[in-house]
Amino acid sequence: MTLPLQRSLNDPDSMVYRHWDRLNSWLAGHRAFWHPAPFTVPQPGWVVDNPGLARWLEQMDDADCKRFEDDPGLLAGEVQRWMPRLVDYPALTMVSDLQPGHEAIASATLAEREATDMPGRKRLQAGAFCDALSPMSHPAVDWCCGKGHLARTLSRHSGLPVIGFEWNPTLVEDGNDLVHRFSDPVVLQRQDVMAPDLSWPDEVHATALHACGDLHRKLIRDVIRLRQPRLSFSPCCYHLGGRGTYQPLSHRARACQPGLGLSRDELRLAVKETVTAPQGVRRQAELVRQLRLGFDGLQRVLRGQDTYLPLPPHPSTLPKEGFEAFVRWAADKKGLELPGQVDWGHWEQVGRARSRQVRRYELVRHLFRRPLELWLVLDYAMALEDAGYQVRVGTFCDRSLTPRNLLVDAVRA
Ligand SMILES: C[S@@+](CC[C@H](N)C(=O)[O-])C[C@H]1O[C@@H](n2cnc3c(N)ncnc32)[C@H](O)[C@@H]1O
Repeated sequence: MTLPLQRSLNDPDSMVYRHWDRLNSWLAGHRAFWHPAPFTVPQPGWVVDNPGLARWLEQMDDADCKRFEDDPGLLAGEVQRWMPRLVDYPALTMVSDLQPGHEAIASATLAEREATDMPGRKRLQAGAFCDALSPMSHPAVDWCCGKGHLARTLSRHSGLPVIGFEWNPTLVEDGNDLVHRFSDPVVLQRQDVMAPDLSWPDEVHATALHACGDLHRKLIRDVIRLRQPRLSFSPCCYHLGGRGTYQPLSHRARACQPGLGLSRDELRLAVKETVTAPQGVRRQAELVRQLRLGFDGLQRVLRGQDTYLPLPPHPSTLPKEGFEAFVRWAADKKGLELPGQVDWGHWEQVGRARSRQVRRYELVRHLFRRPLELWLVLDYAMALEDAGYQVRVGTFCDRSLTPRNLLVDAVRA
């Protein structure tokens, strides 16, 4: 049992800060392992410096690879032989469990008959999220509410009114139909939450389930500016909306120089998890990786330059047309002339071999996903502490329900 990451008032050195600070120096010390992406850099520097680790990864069969992909903690234990500071991995990635118990969650979750249009996982996520916030004492705002699944769950459980902000008119209309059908004290409003003149109700509990990047960062700023009494949110897609390198929100993270200087791709790394992706989706992703890496091998030889050439998104049906069709499309997009004779079988095989290797090398990079995510979330928590909020950070549901299971719960002190 761990203690909630919570600041006692007037403590300049909060638990949140201490955790962030340890993560910050640990991540900075392992930069060589998470900075280069094996997809674009076939031989990251750490492969040369740690040949034993690279050999161990390359010999791994698919079943072990899958086991380690699904359980980074297990992998962290194994690779300590080559990366001794991974001994800190469990402590650094541990947060409190804000999910008190299954019976309570069940009572906070909408019954299936009332959860029209609500995918099963979303219904359970909303229930667990709602339960982790109990008791609520203010009317709520559901930020980027979609059809209002969280809004309806919150209002049903707390008995308090909820306003949802969502900019997609179809979702607003469908959501309001559900609200009327089930007589929930909820109103969904068509609203661009990024609008500078967004009109907030006074004294509300701001909530957001899986609002992306700049959407949740705007939420934090608005709540702080308006001194709303409480903010509870689970962030998602940290890379969306941001430009340039990540600028921390908190004074303490900004004061710490040099910062991690996270790029958009590194922010995306924090959410690259396929733990809930179905088999078919995983297989399709593997095929696309093989095609792209096969082209990558060929283009390096044709251009005489050992550098990655980024490709735009491809038409969704293209992978089914086979390797040659894919390469012809990619070459056309990059204005690259293909020779009359191409050994398609050879380059297709190169793509398969590179894909196998990338999958194994990425195991190491992916060890840093959760630490990076936590580093970001703790920065958000510190920004709220800077503004005088008391903050808890923890998980609101099991990782198998959603890997985006972190919750920041800030109460105005
Ligand atoms: C990842 S979904 C989350 C939806 C909902 N919270 C849930 O968990 O089901 C993000 C939602 O944000 C909405 N959205 C995106 N940009 C927005 C904006 N600028 N203003 C309002 N809503 C926005 C999208 O239309 C989408 O419904």
